[in-house]
Amino acid sequence: MNICILGAGAIGSLWACYLHKAGHNVSLWTKGDEPSITLSLDDLPAITFPANQTTHLSHADLVLIAVKAWQVETATLPIISFIKPSCTLLFTHNGMGAIQGVLPKLSKHNVLFATTTHGALKQNPHQLTHTGYGHTTIGALQQYGHDGSRSISDMLHQALGPVTWDDNIQQALWSKLAINCCINPLTAIKNCRNGELGDPATLAFIDALCLEISSVIHAEGLICKREALFEQVQQVIQATKDNYSSMHQDIYHGRATEIDYITGYLIQRAQARNLNVPLNEKLFKQIKQQEANNDH
Ligand code: PAF
Repeated sequence: MNICILGAGAIGSLWACYLHKAGHNVSLWTKGDEPSITLSLDDLPAITFPANQTTHLSHADLVLIAVKAWQVETATLPIISFIKPSCTLLFTHNGMGAIQGVLPKLSKHNVLFATTTHGALKQNPHQLTHTGYGHTTIGALQQYGHDGSRSISDMLHQALGPVTWDDNIQQALWSKLAINCCINPLTAIKNCRNGELGDPATLAFIDALCLEISSVIHAEGLICKREALFEQVQQVIQATKDNYSSMHQDIYHGRATEIDYITGYLIQRAQARNLNVPLNEKLFKQIKQQEANNDH
């Protein structure tokens, strides 16, 4: 399959290396204009990918958009005129709401979303470490005529499984959002690894966050029990205890965070449903303050 990956960050690079290893024609598309990019995954031999070439983009059967939520519009809109009608677009990023402005412009394409728990770290622009094996859930945001979506899911499963197809991707996205709403802002504010959220006082706070979050998800017409969510958040904290969350890393390195698409999205949906989420609002303000401090 001809696959073009937008964004050569940790997750985009991870998929690039595994899809290449599985025998696909993979190219990259980045903010830069370099004609090729070399990546080394763990201690495997380096791979040189063609990059930023419109011919590769126009032949792509699949475009994987693996940029941060706040980059989705600026990265995707300029490439739309190059892609062929049968090309499927697959988005993957933390948070929700980032694709709203792009979807109407993709009305003739199959559009999928993948949420993943793989951990990857880029030591430098060329060296990548697969820090944690995870699981990927994929589903359709929009289906148009041609239906190759299940085969794309199978193809991804062969390259970097397990990948499971989910007919109700909204439920999966909200579950991931709920976890991110708890772990990401708290690790950024406390400047700690995920595992350090396991003390009784922080867990009591997370439990209260789960109550707010589950009431919003429930109001959206989806299933979410506070106890089950709290249990799930504790499991993720334990499974990723040595990791720094993506928001921790963004604040630590002075970059913009995905808070608008994580807690910000939750607050927006809560307001639309006349629900109060004061603890989430407090975390949102604290992260915004930290982002502002980083700007100076
Ligand atoms: O954003 C992240 O870092 C991850 O989604 C998660 C699950 C919080 C683990 O660090």
